[in-house]
Amino acid sequence: MAWSYIVLLSALLGVSWCAEDWTFPPGFKFGAASASYQVEGGWNASDKGESIWDRFTHTRPQNIADGSNGDVACDSYNLWQTDIDNMKALGLHFYRFSISSFWPRLLPSGFPNYTSEDGKRYYNDLIDGLLKEGIEPMVTLYHWDLPQTLQDLGGWTNPLIADWFADYARVAYSLFGDRVKLWLTINEPLIMCDYPFNSGLLAPGIFSPDHGTYLCNRHVLLAHAKAYRLYDEEFRDQCNGEVSIANHLLWYEAWTEDDEEIAELARQNMGGRYSHAIYSEEGGWPSSIEKVMEENSKKKGYCKSLLPAFTSDEIELIKGTYDYYALNYYTSRLVRPAKEGEELTVYPIGDIPDLKAKTGTRPEWTATNSSFIYVAPEGIRKQLVWLKKTYGDMKVAITENGAPDLGGLNDQGRIDYYREHLKQVLLAIKEDGINVTHYTAWTLMDNFEWAEGYSSKFGLYEVNFTDPLRTRTPRDSAAYYANIIKNNGLKADS
Ligand code: NOJ
Repeated sequence: MAWSYIVLLSALLGVSWCAEDWTFPPGFKFGAASASYQVEGGWNASDKGESIWDRFTHTRPQNIADGSNGDVACDSYNLWQTDIDNMKALGLHFYRFSISSFWPRLLPSGFPNYTSEDGKRYYNDLIDGLLKEGIEPMVTLYHWDLPQTLQDLGGWTNPLIADWFADYARVAYSLFGDRVKLWLTINEPLIMCDYPFNSGLLAPGIFSPDHGTYLCNRHVLLAHAKAYRLYDEEFRDQCNGEVSIANHLLWYEAWTEDDEEIAELARQNMGGRYSHAIYSEEGGWPSSIEKVMEENSKKKGYCKSLLPAFTSDEIELIKGTYDYYALNYYTSRLVRPAKEGEELTVYPIGDIPDLKAKTGTRPEWTATNSSFIYVAPEGIRKQLVWLKKTYGDMKVAITENGAPDLGGLNDQGRIDYYREHLKQVLLAIKEDGINVTHYTAWTLMDNFEWAEGYSSKFGLYEVNFTDPLRTRTPRDSAAYYANIIKNNGLKADS
């Protein structure tokens, strides 16, 4: 719906949508995000350990669109001060970044027997540099770069990883918790469990759709919960921060009005499977998905459900382990039951074979050069409303939102994407009463976009990857975003 039309409609309905209202509530925070493997480089600097993404890109370059890797990436390992200067120019209130490489830079062996001095120094410099400029650090403990040492022990399919993760979290909280008040334990478990194990095409490069996906799903929830409880028990009193987990939610919309049931099942499968245990009142898996998984497992000849059950203690451990909901939103899908014999493709972000569901897009959702992102701004508002309806009223931080293009400084497409999504976020706040407190643009600068290498550009800043200095240049969207931050909202005509 056009913005002017909303304003007109609101006026007719007597709702006071005037230009002044196009601002965000006082204190609303705008930020930008990145992730260690995608920007840092310095893959073997000092005593850093190897991560699964180092191993994957070095041994399987054919799985990366341009055969590239994150060895140097944006070289933020050396250029972090330039990054901070650029954030300052944007006027960012906070910067979301991840610790490397969660583990491998800080704990080269994966275990806390030894902590890298250079790893500590790097993150201390970055955090102190941000605070000096009044930019709040929001830290993700794990953004997909698992130490290879832990992968060799089974990685996310080994139940012990929940304790290994909590041990690592303790190190990070004790080193940085005096200055970092916003924590995210794990980034996008859907994309780190479902997609790698369903396809074998992302690190760690293991194809195990029946087992890997669901073991990873279960252990991520336990790892998150242990890290959250640990913060409560050992750090919250002195540090007074907030902890959550960042979920990637695609908004699944009924293809026709008869498809509402399967659309809700899709939401539960792709979002509920990573949220219900934490945010719902009863905890555990969503019951609709437990049922589907039991039936599917039986049909495949298994005597137990492939979705591994939680004990009642585990349900209690995980339930309520959040201080806010962290939502990464990029796109939407239509969904309907698959027809008899219809082919289903899972990768990238496609159909849902477990539900025998076919997905698609609306003609007006324009494609981007990313294989999975179609521009569907209304989805973010619908998603926010669904979260409130499903899990109740809670604080929500939008921890990622953004769109790619093929490069160039004139990025009107990205400006349009941000504008239309921000409008929908405003509607969610003002019309639906959703308590959204933060908005995070993905991403500060072009970086290593996983299987798409450097071919997909998401940055507010363009990065010249052929220049050894990795020069960063602001795009038009950088000026646009800086204005939004300065005005705490959108201008009537922009
Ligand atoms: C979400 C992921 O967290 C991030 O790493 C990725 O680059 C963006 N989506 C864009 O695909």
